[in-house]
Amino acid sequence: MMKLNLSLFFIAVLLLSACKKEPVKKEMEVFIPSNFPAPVYDLGINPFTAKKFELGRKLFYDRILSQNNTISCGSCHQQFAAFVHAGHIVSHGIHDRLGKRNAPPVMNMLWSKDFFWDGGVHNLDLVPPNPIHNPVEMDEDLGNVLEKLRNSSVYPALFKDAYNTDEINSTRFLQAMSQFMVSLVSANSRYDKFVRREGGTLTTTELSGKSLFEQKCASCHASDLFTDRGFHNNGSQNIITDSGRYAITLNPEDIGKFKTPTLRNIEKTAPYMHGGKFQTLEEVLNHYANGISNSATLDAQLKQNGSVGIALSDDEKAKIISFLKTLTDDDFLHNRNFSEQ
Ligand code: HEC
Ligand code: HEC
Repeated sequence: MMKLNLSLFFIAVLLLSACKKEPVKKEMEVFIPSNFPAPVYDLGINPFTAKKFELGRKLFYDRILSQNNTISCGSCHQQFAAFVHAGHIVSHGIHDRLGKRNAPPVMNMLWSKDFFWDGGVHNLDLVPPNPIHNPVEMDEDLGNVLEKLRNSSVYPALFKDAYNTDEINSTRFLQAMSQFMVSLVSANSRYDKFVRREGGTLTTTELSGKSLFEQKCASCHASDLFTDRGFHNNGSQNIITDSGRYAITLNPEDIGKFKTPTLRNIEKTAPYMHGGKFQTLEEVLNHYANGISNSATLDAQLKQNGSVGIALSDDEKAKIISFLKTLTDDDFLHNRNFSEQ
């Protein structure tokens, strides 16, 4: 892993290389980049260790978590696509069953307050039972997964390495999964190296895109997380068929609102929006310029001065897209520590 010249707090953990002939010490760390806000997930309750991380990674990629042992978390959250399901409009799970929403990236989860497009879950440790139990995703039962792990030839020893006991329970299972997920930090794009003054440069076009983005988009896609972590209706549905946040709060003001997604690695995470409606960033920019559907809950920022949409010329759209592409983080997308081993 690249050594970063960051003034940051980190939990450094030494990982011994799997290669037996030449034991190489490799450093692995969950880090808080200096351009990010304070983390949300409490690593004090679930302290990071290399063994728990490795166990979590193995579980994330293991099909044993699904009812017929065919689907892993990694089936729908693929590293090369910043942990979305590449090319899939909505989730595609067990027995080729389709879900109703697009798989969001599992990335920078250390900073997430609410999970899922509607924010229905508030703690990362409570995320995995949802896909495991979902009949169109893994169609399994958590208790049954734990039983399969207890009866496996490898997991009792791995739990023992991680927790000093081979007793497999849901807390240990869930905390190991969270360890892997919180370590998926993407903060090393060309943009990051530019803002942290680590030698990254942006072209004149990208810099104009950045300033247009700050004027027109950053109110919601805020901070270097590129999300305000709030819920908004950005007019992506012509007719509201997915009520979004409303299903959780039952507040009519939340009809059609969804969690603002991050825009990190956005070049790699098509299709876009909760329903996977757009295939390209050009389509997304055209949406903001003149495709927005008005409704009672449409965000006020998208209907200023009596007209719906964000004023954008074709040149401005292209500049914003060139800026968005500086958020691609190849170190993250190809980090071997995050791959199926
Ligand atoms: C069949 C595809 C599929 C599988 C398998 C799957 N997911 Fe997901 N994942 C999704 C979809 C779709 C969503 C969004 C659901 C929603 O918002 O209603 C999601 C959301 C998430 C989120 C929330 C991200 C955010 O920003 O809110 C996390 C974390 C996550 N999944 C982790 C996992 C883990 C861990 C597993 C394995 C236990 C898993 N997923 C299995 C499709 C899948
Ligand atoms: C009022 C808040 C708001 C503003 C302003 C806004 N967005 Fe969004 N954006 C959202 C929300 C909310 C979503 C998710 C909506 C959905 O899924 O239906 C989203 C989705 C997106 C997505 C899809 C991300 C994904 O992973 O699927 C892109 C790309 C995007 N916005 C780019 C932009 C750009 C570029 C601008 C400025 C021209 C902008 N947004 C302005 C709130 C906003």
